[in-house]
Amino acid sequence: MEKTYLMIKPDGVQRGLIGEITARFEKKGFRLVGAKLMQVSRETAEQHYGEHKERPFFGELVDFITSGPVFAMVWEGENVIATARQMMGSTNPKEAAPATIRGDYAISVGKNVIHGSDSPESAEREIAIFFKEEELTDYNKSG
Ligand code: CMP
Repeated sequence: MEKTYLMIKPDGVQRGLIGEITARFEKKGFRLVGAKLMQVSRETAEQHYGEHKERPFFGELVDFITSGPVFAMVWEGENVIATARQMMGSTNPKEAAPATIRGDYAISVGKNVIHGSDSPESAEREIAIFFKEEELTDYNKSG
């Protein structure tokens, strides 16, 4: 079953949006298979955002994601990678449609509440950065 990595960023955690956001994915029918509230180290942030290393906002990105706790999650379900991206809305909240997470809760491209993997390759890479195999639940084992 397909898995994706989603992360509520420090702005979302600080604003008390963990419940609202996880509820959307649960109600949609996806299953939460791993989750933790954590402080991201600079090393982990630089690894996670490695593809943006040459961008002018890279320093800002790392500063922000390490500025407070994030809520790291792995979700599972059919087509969860693309569907979660749709539910999140455009990266720039100014372009995000109403009823999407960023459309409803964010106004700035930096502080845009949530991150989600954009492809199966990214999902695999990002899940491995934030979670150990034994931290993920296998629902099939419990029926
Ligand atoms: P995310 O999905 O976490 O992946 C990369 C992040 O870079 C993106 O969300 C945005 O929050 C951030 N980002 C993109 N463009 C800019 C920008 N111009 N200035 C600051 N941050 C940006």
